[in-house]
Amino acid sequence: MTQAEQDIVQTIAAEVRRRLGGDGSGHDWWHVFRVWNTARTIGAQEHADMFVVELAALLHDVADWKYHNGDESVGPRVAREIMQAQSVDAGCMDHVCDIIATISFKGAGVQTPMKTLEGKVVQDADRLDAMGAMGIARAFAYGGHKNRALYDPDNKPTEHMNKEQYFSDNGSTINHFYEKLLLLKDRMNTDAARALAAERHIFMQQYLERFFKEWNGEM
Ligand code: ADP
Ligand code: NI
Repeated sequence: MTQAEQDIVQTIAAEVRRRLGGDGSGHDWWHVFRVWNTARTIGAQEHADMFVVELAALLHDVADWKYHNGDESVGPRVAREIMQAQSVDAGCMDHVCDIIATISFKGAGVQTPMKTLEGKVVQDADRLDAMGAMGIARAFAYGGHKNRALYDPDNKPTEHMNKEQYFSDNGSTINHFYEKLLLLKDRMNTDAARALAAERHIFMQQYLERFFKEWNGEM
């Protein structure tokens, strides 16, 4: 990256931090901060264009459509405004907006393919933050925010075949592990992310094993 690009990244990081400060549902600045760091690690190993990777990581949740009545155009639009204010070139801007528009998980049976290496890197980084110790913490934080049970033995997980089904499900947070978190390992786009995902996956499996033992009073 050039010095000018690094300066733009820092300015946009400060702007995103200002906008996302303090959110208890898992979409806070620190989620973005972790995705940014992980995207840098993966992106370097995959030889991606780091200016695009860093901007997309920083801007990927700046206006999540799930919090704007399902309007999927808000995220890319706000991201574009922020980049325009820093005179990011049009090609980069289009690329970043395209990544933001297609990054989200929409259910087990719904494919969300990324077209470019940079998109793959950022999607992997975002998904890694839903796995491992971090992912467990975020899942229960989100479940609490939505008033959901930790676990309900009478309500089994389902593999959602479309996004309407996925987003209207009110099941327990443990179900979310089976509906999304444990599926992520096999959906990584890059080798660098696959290696990180494998470890985070094992940690979640061990966690669940222990959760059920404690639930049943066996431990
Ligand atoms: P992304 O936008 O990165 O695809 P989401 O916005 O869907 O991710 O989810 C943000 C965080 O909240 C993730 O860690 C995700 O696993 C968690 N989450 C989403 N839906 C649920 C749910 N039904 N129960 C528990 N956690 C959830
Ligand atoms: Ni995210």
